[in-house]
Amino acid sequence: MFDRMTDPPPASPPMSASPPKANGVPLLGVLPYLASQPLAYLHQARERHGDLFYAKVGPMQLLVANHPRHAEHVLSRRNTVYAKGGPLWEVLRPYLGNGLLMSEGDYWLRQRRLMQPLFTQQRLVALSDLMLEAIDAGLEHWREPAERALPFDVDRAFSKLTMMISARVIFGRGMSAQEAQVLGSHVTHVIDSMVGNMLTKSIPSWVPLPGRRRYQQALKDVDEGLLRLIQRSGASDETADNDGLLASFIRARTSQVAEPLTAKELRDETMTLFLGGHQTTAYALTWSIYFLTLYPQVEQRMRAEVEALGGRRPTFSDLAALPYMRMVIQESMRARPPVWWIPRKALEDDEIDGHHIPAGTVVAPIMFTIHHHPEIWESPMEFDPERFTPERSANRHRFAWVPFGSGPRKCIGEHFSMMESQLALARIVQKFRFKGVPGRQVTPTLLTTLGTKDGVFVQLIPNE
Ligand code: HEM
Repeated sequence: MFDRMTDPPPASPPMSASPPKANGVPLLGVLPYLASQPLAYLHQARERHGDLFYAKVGPMQLLVANHPRHAEHVLSRRNTVYAKGGPLWEVLRPYLGNGLLMSEGDYWLRQRRLMQPLFTQQRLVALSDLMLEAIDAGLEHWREPAERALPFDVDRAFSKLTMMISARVIFGRGMSAQEAQVLGSHVTHVIDSMVGNMLTKSIPSWVPLPGRRRYQQALKDVDEGLLRLIQRSGASDETADNDGLLASFIRARTSQVAEPLTAKELRDETMTLFLGGHQTTAYALTWSIYFLTLYPQVEQRMRAEVEALGGRRPTFSDLAALPYMRMVIQESMRARPPVWWIPRKALEDDEIDGHHIPAGTVVAPIMFTIHHHPEIWESPMEFDPERFTPERSANRHRFAWVPFGSGPRKCIGEHFSMMESQLALARIVQKFRFKGVPGRQVTPTLLTTLGTKDGVFVQLIPNE
């Protein structure tokens, strides 16, 4: 057993009783359990303490919320009461500035209205060519390990691939592969430092903690690299090379926004898309391959669907002919949601499940446990893409599957990311077969996203 409750609630708690508390170790709270057995701990804690309980995670005190009704309450129905406060968001701010993921209120609304038209279906069709170019170029690097039958870590490979795709789609054809790689490695370093920063944020900035200088240097390099790309995109306005999202931001106006975005605003928004889009989609793909190696019959069915395209490069309109592949990705994101939690801070007193929630409480809907809630999902531990057929999805709780969040702050890149995952998976299946490598354990980790500790190794076999 990992923990026990100190104060079990009475059989019929009065309306104002506080939710139970998950016990942890002094100072660190439940952090050691989350670090050593993350997914098992989340399941067991929900079983033990119920749908809503307090937990101390390192320096953070969280109200852990495990039911779809909590996602509905916090992210949608009462979204004006819950803001982006708490340690996760404070750590992201130096990196993302006031970009769309971080901003609030009128400024956020203005930016969202400006950016939303860039993510419409019509715009996505135009971006699919850029995406496919980057996918095909990236998959060339998979050929050699496949021919040499080397164990191949898809986790690292997808991280690189989605980084290149994001770079190509945001900065257009004007950015060289070399520039994308340099920017990518600085960004990776900054992302890797985030959780450490979250846990050490109360230690003053002048204390020379290991890695702090390198993080600050990487952040500076990212800023300088982005500003150079922004200047170049702005200077070569409307040229053939200038066809990524950044060029569209530079030209974007609405009836409310007549002025162009400043260089700082462009930096924050491009950085946000880079961060928001790349590692999340990489994990969606990594976990999909992981499950496909465990469920060969699912892989065969998906492969048959792709083979019906006849080996040619898929287009955006072909995606409608790949419904099973889409369900595989949806089911992978149910079982391993790349964004596993979405913390919010209560701006005023509130009530959840009859419990008084004081202003200032950090409430964290947990996508991982919501996606496995036994009241909603039949055999939640099984991998079953057909849960997502229209018939079986019809009467499901609207907030039962929320990998992209919900309410007004729902992911702007949802359709972009689904298109990217489907195109990438279709191309991989066309070019390779893959199987698991016996003896290689896959260990999940919960950092800002749900990733793996030592990667997911497969053996690739080239198709021709
Ligand atoms: C599998 C891939 C992805 C997942 C799981 C994911 C997940 C999420 C989630 C859960 C949120 C809501 C955060 C909150 O409410 O606090 C969000 C917001 C956001 N995402 Fe994504 N995302 C993905 C891909 C992308 C892509 C490809 C882009 C951009 C190209 C993107 C850009 C954003 C932005 C800008 C926001 C902030 C939206 C706003 O607050 O108005 N995401 N994402």
